[in-house]
Amino acid sequence: MFESISTQAHKLIKLASRKNKTINNINSKTKLLTITSGKGGVGKSTFSANIAYTLSQKGYKVAVLDADIGLANMQVLLDLKPLYTFYDYLDGKVNLDKVLLSTKYKNITLIAGKSGFQTEKVQNSFIFSQIINEIINLNTYDFLIIDTGAGLNEYVKEFLTLSPNILAVTTTDPSALTDVYALMKMLSKDKTKLMLCYNHTQNYKIGETITNSLVNLAKKNRLNNNFMVEYIGNVSTSKCIPTTARLRKLFACEFRNEQVCVELDRIIDALLNNIK
Ligand SMILES: Nc1ncnc2c1ncn2[C@@H]1O[C@H](COP(=O)(O)OP(=O)(O)OP(=O)(O)O)[C@@H](O)[C@H]1O
Ligand SMILES: [Mg+2]
Repeated sequence: MFESISTQAHKLIKLASRKNKTINNINSKTKLLTITSGKGGVGKSTFSANIAYTLSQKGYKVAVLDADIGLANMQVLLDLKPLYTFYDYLDGKVNLDKVLLSTKYKNITLIAGKSGFQTEKVQNSFIFSQIINEIINLNTYDFLIIDTGAGLNEYVKEFLTLSPNILAVTTTDPSALTDVYALMKMLSKDKTKLMLCYNHTQNYKIGETITNSLVNLAKKNRLNNNFMVEYIGNVSTSKCIPTTARLRKLFACEFRNEQVCVELDRIIDALLNNIK
């Protein structure tokens, strides 16, 4: 008897979490941005950390949530050894204030991930909306940036569902573009917009041309007309990016005069114009 009630409750929670609507708290200044890609290794975490830094330099307060379930990169990029992680909160071991970690960068707070965390431990993704809502309700941060893992698994989908602003990072590699198109297809069902930027892409025009092709393909395949793709820029390949990452530093901080920083600044300007 008990078992069947608890099974039913579990199913209901799962259902509720699937039907979770986009978070849109008009009483909070915090804007929620999820950074995703489909294909792995294209630069999501690099973009998340360096976008956070560039925004922080403009005076914005930024929180970054490492949502790559089972892996943890952001604490390396932000050079921090977390005492508590996102999962201590998920496990109910600590309250939110313990997982909001100050970084060495003024105005950047990290909610860290945990490498080796077993994904099956997260019984339902309902808990994700809880932590995101809690952070937004604090009304402390201007931005909450969520760095997702690769692929379109249940967890990534949940973060995408919750987020009113989504930025996809891709390369021009055909398999990365195939994944971005799959993402467009999925998001077009219940979102109105996807921001798109290209990593490892030498000039702005290339990204624009490829975006137009993706949009034309979407039209040809009759994806939802109300869904738009907004191209927001490119970042070239640069040795300074993996070098700074290896040193647990941020290229946007260490190489202000490099071309990649100029490119990132353009992305930030477009992001600020598009984010809601
Ligand atoms: N524009 C670039 N030029 C040179 N190297 C880059 C560039 N962007 C990212 N990298 C390097 O590529 C590697 C992968 O980047 P990153 O970890 O940000 O990708 P990711 O999409 O977050 O990967 P994952 O899917 O595993 O989470 C890192 O070593 C990073 O330093
Ligand atoms: Mg990553």
